[in-house]
Amino acid sequence: MHLRVLYCFLLVGTVAVFCKQNKGHVSVVLLGATGDLAKKYLWQGLFQLYLNEVNSGHSFSFHGAALTPAEKAEPLLFEALKSLSCPEDVPPDRCALVKDQFLKLTRYRQLKTSENYTALHQDILTSLAEEGLHEAGRLFYLSVPPFAYADIAQNINGSCRPPPGAWLRVVLEKPFGHDYESAEKLAGVMQTFFREEEIYRVDHYLGKQTVEQILPFRRRHQKFLDPIWNKQHVERVEIVMKETVDAKGRTSFYEEYGVIRDVIQNHLTEILTYVAMEVPRNLSNSDEVLRAKLELLDSLRAPEHSSAVIGQYQNYLAQVREEMEKNHNYFTNTPTFAGVLIYIDNTRWEGVPFLLVSGKDLDERTSYARVVFKDNAFCVHKQSKEETIKNSCQPKQIIFHIGNGALNFPAVLVTKSLFKPSLPYSQWQEASDVPGISFFGQPISDYFVHRPVQERDAYTALISNIYRGKKGSFVTTKNLLASWRFWTRLLENLNNETPRIYPGGEETITLLDFVIERGGLRFVSKEGLEVMGMDQNTNSFASAQSIFLGNPMVSNWAEPLIQQLAQDIQTAAEEAVKNRGIFHLALSGGSSPIALFHRLYKHHFGFPWKHTHLWMVDERCVPFTDTDSNFGSLERHLLQHVRIPYVNIHPMPVHKNQRLCDEEDKGTEEYALEISALLTNSSFDLVLLGLGNDGHTASIFPGSQDGITGDKLVVLSESPLKPTHRMSLSLPLINKAQKVAVLVLGKGKHDIITLISRAENKPVRWPIFGVKPNSGQLVWYVDYDAMFR
Ligand code: BG6
Repeated sequence: MHLRVLYCFLLVGTVAVFCKQNKGHVSVVLLGATGDLAKKYLWQGLFQLYLNEVNSGHSFSFHGAALTPAEKAEPLLFEALKSLSCPEDVPPDRCALVKDQFLKLTRYRQLKTSENYTALHQDILTSLAEEGLHEAGRLFYLSVPPFAYADIAQNINGSCRPPPGAWLRVVLEKPFGHDYESAEKLAGVMQTFFREEEIYRVDHYLGKQTVEQILPFRRRHQKFLDPIWNKQHVERVEIVMKETVDAKGRTSFYEEYGVIRDVIQNHLTEILTYVAMEVPRNLSNSDEVLRAKLELLDSLRAPEHSSAVIGQYQNYLAQVREEMEKNHNYFTNTPTFAGVLIYIDNTRWEGVPFLLVSGKDLDERTSYARVVFKDNAFCVHKQSKEETIKNSCQPKQIIFHIGNGALNFPAVLVTKSLFKPSLPYSQWQEASDVPGISFFGQPISDYFVHRPVQERDAYTALISNIYRGKKGSFVTTKNLLASWRFWTRLLENLNNETPRIYPGGEETITLLDFVIERGGLRFVSKEGLEVMGMDQNTNSFASAQSIFLGNPMVSNWAEPLIQQLAQDIQTAAEEAVKNRGIFHLALSGGSSPIALFHRLYKHHFGFPWKHTHLWMVDERCVPFTDTDSNFGSLERHLLQHVRIPYVNIHPMPVHKNQRLCDEEDKGTEEYALEISALLTNSSFDLVLLGLGNDGHTASIFPGSQDGITGDKLVVLSESPLKPTHRMSLSLPLINKAQKVAVLVLGKGKHDIITLISRAENKPVRWPIFGVKPNSGQLVWYVDYDAMFR
């Protein structure tokens, strides 16, 4: 073993001096030593611990552990340790020296079998005996998935417990269960092997500098806060964590958890307790802190069904299908966004709304807790700019800004109209160089802004607290279960709730905004899809008529809907033939129209095929014999079965000169000429369109400029899906038609229907919005599955 090197030394400047009596040896074992969390935060946190404690009188050894054999894992561990760094205030030569020592004290060990654990135990004892050191304690950090906890716990307890007199601390990372029952079960397993005081459950938000400061801030300013930290003065409290990242790369975890389990049940609930609980007399007494927390959690009012609004970013489903290898019949209601309204049934907070909000793929990354005070002053006197301090007409708020966002640093902000805070000067300072922004509706100059003197990472703080045995910043079993008791009820209420689909990022605009109404929450913007007087459970063959995005919509179950559409097409054909002797019909590819084709040839014997010209709305650049060919499909599902003059059939010329969609072959011009030659004003009598999951129609895809506006009648385009090369009628040409029918069938289309019902009308983003017949009519045919899923 490798304890000797640093049993005790002290650095004065750059000189190492032998130092005081050894207080005992601490062995740190990091399981999951080469995993993501370890690489990103934990090794750095352990190094920082060593840097801070090297002179504490303890000696240390660090064991990176995993299931992998040493030959494979050692290079990975070395990679992870290479990037360790010191805070700015550590002189480079000291940093280099301590880092070198840290590396010498760190070894990899495979910990797989109980023998491996026994061997570790023996090694520790032998080296301690050799060095003449006594053991202070062992810290096991389990950065592994929870299913591995039980085995590891059994091995630690059975084969690697330190001898009496030395402490054992076992650190667990979330998720701590999936609901009350599973959390209780997991906690039970842990309790068979460890005592409560040995278990440290990490919630890294409790190590964030601003979160750590909430209780001390409340205590320090008790004189000002006591009179106003209550239902008489607080309007509402917002606890928010917005993220721009999405769940890509971790959908198999996210599918099981969703936003409420991932961050609201833990991070945001912990913050809620700090803001709302009674401030314990002694903040450094972790039992008192935990008792106050528990009391608060126990007074949360049971959530109702309407206590939450949930959403899911649009790409989530596709990411899940891809990463989890699910097919297109797989759907998910996992929320990636949630807003939750919580009431606290105690005398301090009765009736004050606490809003907990979090989501992925939102427009900004920020997290904060914001206490907004009531404003019941009416100010007759005109306001001047200078009158910001102690003016009852200024809005009043306190913001614990945890990080990111417009103010890109942790901070505590207090509006000047409240009081001037004083934070612990050695750690916090009044912020200078604050950007001249407006923050929560007020110029930043209206606030006293304090920030940490030095920013540091949450894990560094937590690892230091574990080492010091400060349990106050960890989640105890009782707290965990109290939190799950509340959240499990809400999750059960939401079981059958369909989340609102949002486009993600900036495009989400106001879609997720919500209001408090009758003790619950509701989204501000209504579903664009509102079908008047229709019972979705009806089996009626009478299709419902309504309006969708300003145009008529026919809806029904798929089969009667197709019957209705087939009938409407026949009526249009008969009318055109009666008036002009000819009917020009342009048909889309894809699977939705197939049922329509079957209906037409099987039931519409009187259809005027002889006078009908059939055109293609779009075509894939493949030979007609290919199964992907739209014309091939039309051929198989309709043309084979009806008597239609050969010259009336107009496939798109995608295959010329033995090549596909080559610009030089001028297929688009040829088709455009054919259309102009045969159709008066290039106006089709009827164009049948579909709607793609990304908002495309015909073969005009999001982001394409060509085909949305301009003079071209026919264009070549690119699809994100295979086959990628396409030929398509342009939207300006489609818009010349007398009638446009958009057929949307199946559950798979529900998300896009809800999405476009609320999205911004931007044809480049959602090409379907570019379909606006100049003088003709647009009618939607949407089945109930697509509408209601
Ligand atoms: C983790 C969640 O606990 O917290 C992630 O699992 C989330 O989904 C992360 O992104 C956010 O933490 P931070 O420190 O980046 O705000």
